[in-house]
Amino acid sequence: MVATQLLSPIGAAGLTSDLDLSTSELRALLNLAAEVKRAPRDFRRDLESKSAALLFEKPSLRTRLTFELAVQQLGGSVVTVEGPIGQREPLQDVARNLGRWVDIIVARTFAQSTVDGLAHWSRIPVVNALSDRYHPCQALADMQTLAEHFGSFENRTLAFVGDGNNVAHSLMLCAARLGLNFRIATPQGYEPDAEIVAQARQFASASGSGIFLSHDPAEAVTGANAIYTDVWASMGQESEAAQRRRIFRPYQVNDELFSLAPDALFMHCLPAKRGEEVTDEVMESPRSIAFDQAENRLHAQKALLLMLLAA
Ligand code: CP
Ligand code: NVA
Repeated sequence: MVATQLLSPIGAAGLTSDLDLSTSELRALLNLAAEVKRAPRDFRRDLESKSAALLFEKPSLRTRLTFELAVQQLGGSVVTVEGPIGQREPLQDVARNLGRWVDIIVARTFAQSTVDGLAHWSRIPVVNALSDRYHPCQALADMQTLAEHFGSFENRTLAFVGDGNNVAHSLMLCAARLGLNFRIATPQGYEPDAEIVAQARQFASASGSGIFLSHDPAEAVTGANAIYTDVWASMGQESEAAQRRRIFRPYQVNDELFSLAPDALFMHCLPAKRGEEVTDEVMESPRSIAFDQAENRLHAQKALLLMLLAA
């Protein structure tokens, strides 16, 4: 099947952040992701003759494997490079070399400015595979997962407990666009970025949903339909890990907190640090959909690649 029969390609040059997708593009992408998941073989030749370069400055299991498999299963070819970007040679030269060989760049970087710099110098689409500020590919899979479980986002609430980090930022922006209420409880000083919150509030007022910030995990999760957490120290913050363990202790998603939302699903982008941000019991609970999220990374990223590349 040719993906463009289902939708038009993204106009912007890639996905450096969640802001690169309009609300209608996001909805179209989620519809395509559902279609790709239902009938993967229908799309097995859509990226024939296309190739992708994956660049990783930080470790990855899910993102790397699901992008590699996504490109291969759509008929394309993929190469992966691990290591710092823009150190051996300037970023602008990296971007322009890659543009002569491949059709798309997928980059996991420490700084958002590295993804933005690649996009600035690139004549091919650049996709953010996680930076210090956003994790848009994760949010796509998470929205697909919630759509499967909820059917509709109307009057549903997603509560995030922990660090106001890259994963929280992307979730908040996508939830607000799609009309899903978003609550977040963080320790003082670990709130999400104020500019991103302001942007999300604009999206939420257009979609009729709400954004609610708190420092009290019980307040955030009570009555929520899904509870999401992530590691307390992200990649690159290892030196702060001990201090963060002390500060974030009251934000652990454990049976006590989970029981405040008895019907809520549990979500985690993974990798999880069991015994820190989440207990074994909650991770292994029948209400945990963390592995559905991981599976949907494959389908959502296929949809993204099709939107960016299928002619
Ligand atoms: N969730 C996620 O991005 O996992 P990886 O770090 O393993 O890619
Ligand atoms: N916030 C985490 C997400 C890992 C997928 C990190 O950046 O390390």
